[in-house]
Amino acid sequence: MKKSITIDKSKCIHCGMCIKDCIVNCIEFDSEKIPKYVDGGDKMCIGCQHCMAICPAGALSFGGKNPDDSDPVGYGNSDDLLRLIKSRRSVRFYKNKDIPAETIDKLTDMLAYPPTGGNVDTLHFSIVGTAEKMREIIKVTYEKVCESNRDSTVIKFAKDGYNKGKDIVYRGAPSMITVSVDKSKAIAGCENADPIIALSYLDLYAQSLGLGTLWCDAALTIAQDIPEVKALLEIPENYTLNYIMLLGVPNVKYQRTVQREPANVKII
Ligand SMILES: Cc1cc2nc3c(=O)[nH]c(=O)nc-3n(C[C@H](O)[C@H](O)[C@H](O)COP(=O)(O)O)c2cc1C
Repeated sequence: MKKSITIDKSKCIHCGMCIKDCIVNCIEFDSEKIPKYVDGGDKMCIGCQHCMAICPAGALSFGGKNPDDSDPVGYGNSDDLLRLIKSRRSVRFYKNKDIPAETIDKLTDMLAYPPTGGNVDTLHFSIVGTAEKMREIIKVTYEKVCESNRDSTVIKFAKDGYNKGKDIVYRGAPSMITVSVDKSKAIAGCENADPIIALSYLDLYAQSLGLGTLWCDAALTIAQDIPEVKALLEIPENYTLNYIMLLGVPNVKYQRTVQREPANVKII
């Protein structure tokens, strides 16, 4: 998106909130007290859109976007959010059916909103859209796992499971999402955090939509170890696979939350 700010002068109340909230100080008042980029401001701007989000008068447009098209801010109900966090489970049993297309659209829309370091667009997501495509990935996985003599715990477990008729890697999930990162674009130190934050948001949102999810180290290790499997994930060049989460309509229903021991927290 082109970085630009446009002010509706008839609405601007000259409060300077856009200037105050700008992390890189790329906005200033002009002689009429109308906000504008400082010289070279478009290069400094990180495109976070705080200026548009904070404007009390809806006078500031970022990148040609109409502020009236933004959703009203809402933080939901904290009790409901906590219940979602406590209710989320790792799901290892799935219905053998595709995730509805509308649900995939909702997940896709949401993925534009998790934060990334420096607000840089560093991530790529591959979503397996059909159970048929998933079956192809599973087939290639177990063909290669059975051929492999590698001294890898996951490959040994997968082979052992397969010989007993169990899919311990994908757990029968009809879909999964892969997140990859362009490390050359990511802010140093954020290249591992950005993908995990995105999947953490997705994890909770997917479960609120009635999907099951599973952070899957086994699938990640397989994709990292077996090039034929990784190729099926269609990760663009220059992107490094970071994590895989299984997705699908659950074939299991939890009746209550777990009861964890308190977290290890010290108030200092
Ligand atoms: C980073 C990460 C990797 C995981 N990898 C696997 C996996 O490969 N296979 C699996 O069955 N569960 C996996 N899990 C699920 C954990 O076993 C699970 O989160 C834990 O047992 C707690 O259960 P809960 O998520 O339902 O609270 C993983 C979880 C995380 C956070």
